Amino acid sequence: MQLSTCGFNGIQPFQSNALNSINPAPDTCKLCLPTTSNSTYPPSKMGPKTVLITGCSSGGIGHGLALEFAAHGLHVFATARTVSKMADLELIPNITLLSLDVTEASSIAAAVSAVAAKTGGTLDYLVNNSGSNYAMPLLDVDLSKARAMFDVNFWGMLAMTQGFAPLLILAKGTIVNIASVTSMMHTPWAGVYSASKTAVDFVSETLRREVEPLGVSVVTVVTGIIKTNIFANAQVEPLPGNSYYSAAAKEIHAMATGDHDIKETLVGDYAKAVVGDVLGGKTGRIYRGYLSTFMSIMPEWLRDHLASSGKGLDKVKSGGVPMKRISVGDDS
Ligand SMILES: NC(=O)c1ccc[n+]([C@@H]2O[C@H](COP(=O)([O-])OP(=O)(O)OC[C@H]3O[C@@H](n4cnc5c(N)ncnc54)[C@H](OP(=O)(O)O)[C@@H]3O)[C@@H](O)[C@H]2O)c1
Repeated sequence: MQLSTCGFNGIQPFQSNALNSINPAPDTCKLCLPTTSNSTYPPSKMGPKTVLITGCSSGGIGHGLALEFAAHGLHVFATARTVSKMADLELIPNITLLSLDVTEASSIAAAVSAVAAKTGGTLDYLVNNSGSNYAMPLLDVDLSKARAMFDVNFWGMLAMTQGFAPLLILAKGTIVNIASVTSMMHTPWAGVYSASKTAVDFVSETLRREVEPLGVSVVTVVTGIIKTNIFANAQVEPLPGNSYYSAAAKEIHAMATGDHDIKETLVGDYAKAVVGDVLGGKTGRIYRGYLSTFMSIMPEWLRDHLASSGKGLDKVKSGGVPMKRISVGDDS
């Protein structure tokens, strides 16, 4: 085999070899094409359609989507930071496991090379699903933790989109971004998470217009409440001792841990609906999961009223504002 200039040389972080039946792999990867005269570039589109999904750890939305796309006969590149967290997927012949951290440029580049080498330089669907949660009053938010969350939820989605764009453009493919119903309401204690998902929604819908001339479609999945590990995986921080919001500590903790009585859609049901929409050719915003459609037709004042109720704001108000959070001009 002729050596590729990128250094991957077909040795990729694959956990499965089930892709050999897809488009014949070229002698080189997408990042250094074209380097060989016998490369299959542009690629043959004879094989099954391909989809790459971020954040496929067991129990989450990505995992459910991987199973559902695979059931529809696509070849799935299921990715996660820790491959062992999606080990069960390896048993499915048309799923290939890849290690991928969406906050690491080198990890994204390696995934692009790995996919391109196996598909001949194309990808039909990219699902930007990875995400993390962080609940805290805005006045108490640890900015480094909030930035780290934005790195996963928002910048990671954009970096993945940029990295895989050449493959998606060749395939005239589709980008699917997992947004959230939280963008439609201003929920106390969820400000930074909701902001990150609102950024996802905004960029996704803007991207849809920008990539349309390139032949690429975009779907923004406004996701309702789904039973996953998102709260178990979340950073749950205690309120700072001098927080103005100590009176609502119980409600803030409940928000951070997902301790609520709200109905949740099962991952499998959500995944069936989303994959049906995506493979059916829907583009733009789609609403899936408990409360998503309902929220979209509710007036904003009602959404905000519902979002604020039960959050302990009344306790904060009736407790009065604590004396002094910091000392200013203390002459004593
Ligand atoms: N559950 C809901 O009610 C709901 C509602 C609206 C929107 N969403 C969105 O749905 C998406 C999936 O969330 P989920 O509910 O399925 O939660 P989840 O079970 O916690 O899954 C999140 C996935 O993202 C991965 N991830 C975290 N940081 C990553 C990184 N740096 N690089 C790559 N992957 C990373 C996690 O991997 P690890 O296992 O390694 O942490 C996990 O696989 C998120 O974007 C979330 O905002 C969820």
